[in-house]
Amino acid sequence: MTDLASRIRQDFPILQRKVHNVPLVYLDNGASSQRPVQVIAAMDEHYRMHHANIHRGAHTLGEESTQAYESAREKVAGFVNAPATHEIIFTKNATEAFNLVASSCGRFFLSEGDRILVSAMEHHANIVPWFMVAEQTGAKVDWIPLTSDGQIDLEAAHALIPGAKIVACTAVSNVLGTINPIAEICAKARESGAVSVVDAAQLAPHLPIDVQALGCDFLGFTGHKMCGPTGIGVLWGRTELLDAIPPFLGGGEMIEIVDFEGFTTAPLPYKFEAGTMPIAEAIGLATAIDYLTDIGFDAIRKHEVDLLGTTFDMLTSAFGDKIRIYGPQDINRRSGILSFNFGDIHPHDLASILDAEGVAIRAGHHCAQPLMRTLGVQATARASFYFYNTKEEVEILAHGLEKAADIFGI
Ligand code: ALA
Repeated sequence: MTDLASRIRQDFPILQRKVHNVPLVYLDNGASSQRPVQVIAAMDEHYRMHHANIHRGAHTLGEESTQAYESAREKVAGFVNAPATHEIIFTKNATEAFNLVASSCGRFFLSEGDRILVSAMEHHANIVPWFMVAEQTGAKVDWIPLTSDGQIDLEAAHALIPGAKIVACTAVSNVLGTINPIAEICAKARESGAVSVVDAAQLAPHLPIDVQALGCDFLGFTGHKMCGPTGIGVLWGRTELLDAIPPFLGGGEMIEIVDFEGFTTAPLPYKFEAGTMPIAEAIGLATAIDYLTDIGFDAIRKHEVDLLGTTFDMLTSAFGDKIRIYGPQDINRRSGILSFNFGDIHPHDLASILDAEGVAIRAGHHCAQPLMRTLGVQATARASFYFYNTKEEVEILAHGLEKAADIFGI
């Protein structure tokens, strides 16, 4: 076990448990990571000692809760290097962040015949909201194709971006692990007058984010994939755009005045935060950011690249042509996600066999059906790593695959 994994695994009680009487090997971090005790304790402390609704009560608990929630916003602003704290909007998850952008931008500046450009490796969360808004406005969804090794076809992207109103692209593929040249894509979008929307759900847990260096207009991610709680996501947007577009949901503290004629909206960020917000979850997310920052994204990245290299070597030398790994073969171009097919074993069967060995992976289309179609498959098996995974766990994965090969006679 590396120094990093041996040092931090004790922070994660769930990693000590067994399933089917064998130690859990959790390789489904792309779907949701696990939480360290520090995050659990921060949320527990909030509920035990400080909880009240925010921005409402003129009492001590209300003030403490508001203070903690707004400090969490400042923490997130620092985490993404936002120029202003009011550019951080808390949402329920990354999906809600993209629905907000699509719905509000759609009503503000999309009309009949406009082009919305998305990449063929997007998660449904960054596709379906655009189809929905296209249906409402008469705009059209268009696709940036991929190269045969699962990267954005940059030449095609450069040709397609001019004339598009929106360019929506993931920073890291949730299926292939491909790390996209997102700054280059956003620069081209800006040069062409398009609004850029970045899905950072698989970036935020693994690599540092700097929205100013990326040069994007909107960026969304979720807490639960980065050691934070479920039920909290983040949308960052540029002030002038957030000011210009209409609100997404109505009610609660997103108003300034409501009268018998209508309403006016509160200033940023409250304009986009309707109803009682996920307060404890924001506090948990801020603690997760502290936790990851203390470990350091350089150390996290180094550990994951090492683990990915080991996994590639181990699986390809053990299984040769029987295993088909999708995405870039250069591990420096990918994050710790490994999608594969193994002989003709259905990924769901593979996942069940591995589960009996204690190994949790995801199988299916990974909410990326256009990508599955591009790859020419219905589904893949996906092992996704985090900084607490170990080489010993990769050996258990390889052993589980050997068992599957025996069972299915491949
Ligand atoms: N978006 C999550 C995944 O890729 C759920 O698994």
